[in-house]
Amino acid sequence: MQFAKRMDRFGEGIFTKLSDIKRSRLERGETVIDLSIGTPNIPPGKHIIEALCSAAADERNYVYALSDQSALQEAVSDWYRERYEVELNSKTEICSLLGSQEGLAHISLSIVDEGDIVLVPDPCYPVFADGPLLAGAKLHYMPQKKENGYVIDLQDIPEHVAQQAKLMLVSYPNNPTSAMAPDSFYVDLIAFAKKYDIIVLHDNAYSELVFDGKSCGSFLSFPGAKEVGVEFNSLSKTYGLAGARIGFCVGNEQVVSRLKILKSNMDYGMFLPIQQAAIAAITGDQSGVETTRKAYEYRRDVLCDGLNALGWKIDKPEATMFVWAAIPSHYDTSEDFVMDLVTQAGVIITPGSAFGPSGEGYVRMALVQEEENLKQAVEAVRQSGILEV
Ligand SMILES: Cc1ncc(COP(=O)(O)O)c(C=O)c1O
Repeated sequence: MQFAKRMDRFGEGIFTKLSDIKRSRLERGETVIDLSIGTPNIPPGKHIIEALCSAAADERNYVYALSDQSALQEAVSDWYRERYEVELNSKTEICSLLGSQEGLAHISLSIVDEGDIVLVPDPCYPVFADGPLLAGAKLHYMPQKKENGYVIDLQDIPEHVAQQAKLMLVSYPNNPTSAMAPDSFYVDLIAFAKKYDIIVLHDNAYSELVFDGKSCGSFLSFPGAKEVGVEFNSLSKTYGLAGARIGFCVGNEQVVSRLKILKSNMDYGMFLPIQQAAIAAITGDQSGVETTRKAYEYRRDVLCDGLNALGWKIDKPEATMFVWAAIPSHYDTSEDFVMDLVTQAGVIITPGSAFGPSGEGYVRMALVQEEENLKQAVEAVRQSGILEV
């Protein structure tokens, strides 16, 4: 059998290794506390599940959806107006996605050709690089450095790269670093994109998971944003709908319309009951959003306070469901540390190197376990003595 050379651009890497170790530990009856993959474990509100179930009980809802229902388009448009003060044309500026991951994986196919340059944050959520790679793009990494608050420094991008670049991905609050960007960053970003004629994709998956009384809005609320790009949003974390797979790409009409054409050749739209669940989520009782936010904030405190008390100096994240921490100084690589942590403490986390070259020296811990398990993880780290030189 012969397969596409394209597949050489992707590896199974560390995640397969970690999941093999997890399986063998569980087979041996040893405990594992998995803080590696960001799968949310907070369920959707009852009214959302009821909307899904009642639509699923209607036999008329098993046809191909083909496109988004008007009620869903209106709901998203209202949601953006109320939540972010952004006006969207419900017919032309909104496209639903089978999870924002799906849209992020595919959209580059509608924007870049083989060899085009795409600007990608480093470290980044892996599909930001994998989507453009699938389309044959060349990546130029934009480091997100600690000294810059983990925010991209646009001045670092060489002039000749900016001239050639066609597309740029950006996301704050950020996975994996959990950083937020100041308003001035978005103002500069839009000016930069206009100057060099670059399309911007902003991923806003964590806009509702912002802690300590702070909040964040939308890239599209900045003047000129809609002229240069689109925003991806997801119902996975905000409404606990990760497995139902629903997200949106909204903003620039040309970008959205090309994505719609591409997708019409790939899928037949979203299962109608999931469209109904999404409508219930974004138009219904919003108290669950606050409960979810508080749950992550509390978990953040439990994990960070616990690890800090052991002498591992970790900054508390301002947002997201991730803790980003420098590895202990007696380790050379994040992968070495992660491997020792799982074998000696049974705690699985992700090495920063899995998110790009600038992630080396860091690890990411996902707040996807209840308080008790997080306390147990801290205790396991203490007992292993792994933080001691
Ligand atoms: C930054 C970011 N974008 C997108 C996604 C994917 O979300 P969805 O479930 O909508 O595909 C994730 C999931 O972890 C994420 O962290």
